[in-house]
Amino acid sequence: MADFATTLSDKVGAAFASMGLDPAFGAVQRSARPELGHFQCNGAMAAAKAAGKPPREIATAIAGRLARDTVFATVEVAGPGFINLVVASEALAARGDALAKDPRVGAEVIANPRRIIVDYAGPNVAKEMHVGHLRATIIGDSLKRLFRFRGDTVWGDAHFGDWGYQMGLLIAAVHDEQPALLYFDDAFTGPYPAESPVVMADLERLYPFASARAKADPAERDRARRATAELQAGRPGYRALWAHFVAATRVVLQREFAALGVTFDLWKGESDADPLIAGLVTDLKERGLAVPDQGAMIVRVARDGDKKEIPPLIVVSSEGSSMYGMTDLATIVDRVNEFSPDLMIYCVDQRQAGHFEQVFRAADIAGYYPESQLEHIGFGTMNGPDGKPFKTREGGVLKLHDLIAMVREKAEARLRDAGLGADLPADEFAATALHVGVAALKFADLMNFRGTSYVFDLERFTAFEGKTGPYLLYAAVRIKSVLRKAEAAGFVGGAVTPTLPEERDLILTLDGFERALAGAYEKRAPHILAEHVYALAQAFSSFYASAPILPEPDASLRASRLTLATTVLKQLELGLDLLGIETPERM
Ligand code: ARG
Repeated sequence: MADFATTLSDKVGAAFASMGLDPAFGAVQRSARPELGHFQCNGAMAAAKAAGKPPREIATAIAGRLARDTVFATVEVAGPGFINLVVASEALAARGDALAKDPRVGAEVIANPRRIIVDYAGPNVAKEMHVGHLRATIIGDSLKRLFRFRGDTVWGDAHFGDWGYQMGLLIAAVHDEQPALLYFDDAFTGPYPAESPVVMADLERLYPFASARAKADPAERDRARRATAELQAGRPGYRALWAHFVAATRVVLQREFAALGVTFDLWKGESDADPLIAGLVTDLKERGLAVPDQGAMIVRVARDGDKKEIPPLIVVSSEGSSMYGMTDLATIVDRVNEFSPDLMIYCVDQRQAGHFEQVFRAADIAGYYPESQLEHIGFGTMNGPDGKPFKTREGGVLKLHDLIAMVREKAEARLRDAGLGADLPADEFAATALHVGVAALKFADLMNFRGTSYVFDLERFTAFEGKTGPYLLYAAVRIKSVLRKAEAAGFVGGAVTPTLPEERDLILTLDGFERALAGAYEKRAPHILAEHVYALAQAFSSFYASAPILPEPDASLRASRLTLATTVLKQLELGLDLLGIETPERM
């Protein structure tokens, strides 16, 4: 059963068509002024020109045709030619029943599912994730859920930064600290020890040190480059040591992803694309697409009409190493070979837009994969009060781990202040606080259009009032509690019979789920769904204030309201889940 926006647009469109006008003029939307109607159609104004008639005359004629349809309680013309539509209670009741019975609570499945890779998070070896990875993780995870829920086959890939010069820097630094390790012994033939000589803390300490050292000292830089080249060429000791770097980092990263409730279907690394690079370089050279330029090999990707300069993709640097761009190009080829995707989307900071433009164009020019099926989903930054990317009080980059600890602690305090969770066992209280804190972080991020940057505001994000994750969780938990009490009292749901304006409004809001999902999906914009989820919680809150459920003496009204509450909860939890937000059972 389609939503009202669709069925009513069809009906109003048919009325336009019967007057010889384009049915597209019949598009309706939820009314901006609910006191005038549930939906409105503004098509008469646009149609006036084509029809050569005043808009009000067209609107009046349309209204006349529609008035006979029992789906409408009233159809009225206002102002210059607005058509205001009030849906009949019977139609609302039928829609309410249909939504209640639908396991997808009104959400449809797309007609042409695709195979999609979502590249998100993008953490790196030897570096704990920091706030910069937060948005890539939250937005990417939500899009992955949304695409999958709409019916696409989706692989989420962490695209682990586990390759390149950084690895050479680390190898050289470990060599200095622990020269006796078997990994550096040319005579040793293996097997190498299973236990890692380094933990994440070592890598995090060594990396900035080695990086600064190589910047200051060309000899150190060359040494790191040689180590990188030997690693990539397959020197066994280096490969074995590198595998420890990768594993040690992953353990820590998994902990952060677990706290955020984020999982991946693929955990591929940049290293997985490496074996393809040599072949691609040869191919690009042979076909004359890669050309020499100042000692490097490049693919020119600039086009006539480019508004800004798009530099060439560097295929091989003047120092003979392959670069970030080539790694991404090879990753595209690797993904095509393994998954034959119809679409690849990259959830990466807007500041990398130029990089993706180069890579996508190069893939297209080389005929590896069409640019039209590659999308960079960029986003702004999470800023501090100074409007610059969020930093610690000392001015350093804040680790994600510390950020999560911060919101969890704040959530604990908020729960205590609100007198919530007081009777929960300690471990459940801690888990709830983590949920609330993560919900605060995620919702604050997803409620804004991803392109805009926003200011991190712990006080506001974690409040139980306002447009926040905690408010939504609380709303869901409150419904759960009502439903538990109803069950204990032996009450069961029944046919939906709206009698109050708040009940009608609640059904209409539930009905808006599909539009919100479709919008979020098409625009890759989870904030549209976040908006819906918030509107739903608010509509429920108004409904519940004027239509109490348990004290209602009329059994059929009570049953109807119980069904509505159950349906709201289902849709709320589903919507939140698609935003990556898990609802606790109680608080
Ligand atoms: N690891 C990269 C970074 O930290 C992000 C990777 C984004 N994905 C990609 N396919 N390039 O900047």
